[in-house]
Amino acid sequence: MTEQITAGPLTTEAGAPVADNQNSETAGVGGPVLIQDQLLIEKLAHFNRERIPERVVHARGAGAYGTFTVTADVTPWTRAKFLSGIGKQTEVFLRFSTVAGNLGAADAVRDPRGFAVKFYTEEGNYDLVGNNTPVFFIKDAIKFPDFIHTQKRDPYTGSQEADNVWDFWGLSPESTHQVTWLFGDRGIPASYRHMDGFGSHTFQWTNEAGEVFWVKYHFKTDQGIKNLTQAEANKLAGEDPDSHQRDLREAIERGEYPSWTVQVQIMPAEEAATYRFNPFDLTKVWPHADYPPIEIGKLELNRNPENIFAEVEQSIFSPHHFVPGIGPSPDKMLQGRLFAYGDAHRYRVGINADHLPVNRPRATEARSHGRDGFMYDGRHGGAKNYEPNSFGGPAQTDRAMWQSTSVSGVTGNHPAPVHAEDDDFVQAGNLYRLMSEEEKERLIENLAGFIAKVSREEIAQRAIENFRRADEDYGKRLDAAVQALRG
Ligand code: HEM
Repeated sequence: MTEQITAGPLTTEAGAPVADNQNSETAGVGGPVLIQDQLLIEKLAHFNRERIPERVVHARGAGAYGTFTVTADVTPWTRAKFLSGIGKQTEVFLRFSTVAGNLGAADAVRDPRGFAVKFYTEEGNYDLVGNNTPVFFIKDAIKFPDFIHTQKRDPYTGSQEADNVWDFWGLSPESTHQVTWLFGDRGIPASYRHMDGFGSHTFQWTNEAGEVFWVKYHFKTDQGIKNLTQAEANKLAGEDPDSHQRDLREAIERGEYPSWTVQVQIMPAEEAATYRFNPFDLTKVWPHADYPPIEIGKLELNRNPENIFAEVEQSIFSPHHFVPGIGPSPDKMLQGRLFAYGDAHRYRVGINADHLPVNRPRATEARSHGRDGFMYDGRHGGAKNYEPNSFGGPAQTDRAMWQSTSVSGVTGNHPAPVHAEDDDFVQAGNLYRLMSEEEKERLIENLAGFIAKVSREEIAQRAIENFRRADEDYGKRLDAAVQALRG
């Protein structure tokens, strides 16, 4: 629970006692304020600088600390030390979020939820920066800024515009799978506790022998899946914009610690080239029948942050924070993300962001030669700041964190490779056909309600056509529902 700073005299930022914190200093009674009132100036100036840029996406979020416990032997597939024995525990910090809304937006909205986990391992921090959806809207990082522009506020109206959203999705048919997911029942989770998490991308695991496996992570909620209908969400967002954040904090305060069962799907490296779907395409899942999920651990959240700004707003998660035995795949989205996050952190929190208490390694220490910059805390003392050196400084390990993969061909703006059963619609159609009749009805109603707001008929029709290509019945019903709403 929250504590006061120590009792004693109130002071300035420099520690000098404050005599009067109610009245600023003036030239005579009723006269103008004096520049020598440095307390007033310090307070006003500090206040003006209390905000840092909010995250350009996922600005709205809540976090908590907890533990990850290994429940299965995964050493045949990865040499990551924090995964090296059944019962082994690692401290974690998890930040949940929505994507499109600004910092003060409501929680109960139709939007993917971020599911970003920081494992404080003995080999450095490992960040898995995922979502509550196993797939994503696009498959190439070069489209991400355009995509997000359509989700955020229009430059002229200042609001999210149905025209922009459906124009982009209609012209980006690879989004059909994720959009079907988002407008289905799981599109508005009832809380952060009642949803699954996914690493979404494919990652590389490599074992002691140097063998390579491709893996996908799943976090299955132990609280059970609970969702809101559009009508329930509209009401809740108005009544309690902080619903998800409050629910998480209060559950932990009550001692009801939310947990997730962690699973992985594992593909031996040699199967990737001939798998029926491109295993590095983020718009596709690996059907469980092909690669059954294997349970490997338990994640529990059991401690609230004390100071939301310090620990949640300033927390940083980077898909490039790997540890030995875990690495990237050639997924073009993931490759773009390996750059984007560190860059965002340097802009948003600063060059020393990695060394703030929530971000720094906790089970080991950072021994880099990065020095100085804004807000440097002098942690290196007088140690030499270069490598190699003859003064006993830290040295490279000569062992790559992950394995090399072979490449071929010529450079170029190549689209992601297409495998035997790949197209932009097959898995969206499969997802639609898996739904019960009631689920299909809600999906159609949710989509139609939004598409009907589009001002130009050809944009609406192009969007509907993508769903028709996923499943004839899907497109037909959606078209009818949109026409009915348009009147
Ligand atoms: C190429 C595509 C993407 C780019 C360029 C991108 C970029 C970003 C940026 C710049 C941030 C803000 C980081 C910060 O200020 O701390 C962010 C946050 C986030 N992104 Fe992405 N993103 C991409 C795709 C994805 C995907 C596919 C997922 C999930 C599978 C995802 C999950 C998240 C999450 C969970 C956060 C919030 C992290 C936190 O809680 O601090 N992003 N993204």
